[in-house]
Amino acid sequence: MRVITLGIQMSKQEKSLTMTVLMTPDMANFSGNVHGGSLLKLLDQVAYACAAKYCKNYVVTAALDQVFFKQQVNVGELVTLYARVNHVGRSSMEIGVKVVAEHLRTYEKRHTTSCFFTMVAIDENGKSVEVPRLQLETEAEKQLFAAAEMRKKIRQESLEKTRALQVDIEDEF
Ligand SMILES: CC(C)(COP(=O)(O)OP(=O)(O)OC[C@H]1O[C@@H](n2cnc3c(N)ncnc32)[C@H](O)[C@@H]1OP(=O)(O)O)[C@@H](O)C(=O)NCCC(=O)NCCS
Repeated sequence: MRVITLGIQMSKQEKSLTMTVLMTPDMANFSGNVHGGSLLKLLDQVAYACAAKYCKNYVVTAALDQVFFKQQVNVGELVTLYARVNHVGRSSMEIGVKVVAEHLRTYEKRHTTSCFFTMVAIDENGKSVEVPRLQLETEAEKQLFAAAEMRKKIRQESLEKTRALQVDIEDEF
């Protein structure tokens, strides 16, 4: 007897992405370590790739928060950036990025930075567009989603408070 099961087949979502980059001398700052700006560029690239692959749409960086360079990264180290879609709103996605630097000869690994990007999917006119809802499959994903939702709320509240603190001074701008 053949048993036929009918159901909606959900395609597996692309929720995470890993990028590994060798830290070369052109990325150095004046003290010979990796420049914060070079790392920020890589962080933005991995967040872009992760979000665009998830929603299959062009995305822009709307915000970046909680970047804290806990430890310096050295030229010659191998840096791996782990990006993951933590949360999805209507058009925005929170992408969490963790950075691990590895010494090539000792294999010692250090967690140097973590941060959160808000990426927004836009159309050809620059208008925000809807992205697929996030399928939460594991307990960890549910926890990440709940934490990211809280961060989104805090971000919005913080934006409103910051706007209230704005001082308008007359200058050439
Ligand atoms: C990001 C951008 C598309 C948002 O435009 P907008 O008119 O505010 O769009 P919407 O009101 O439709 O909001 C879209 C989403 O962005 C989110 N958003 C808007 N401003 C935000 C901010 N300051 N921080 C975090 N998220 C923000 C909204 O919460 C909304 O999320 P949701 O749809 O999941 O609820 C627009 O500001 C933009 O194009 N910015 C330039 C991006 C860019 O060039 N980045 C490169 C760095 S220079």
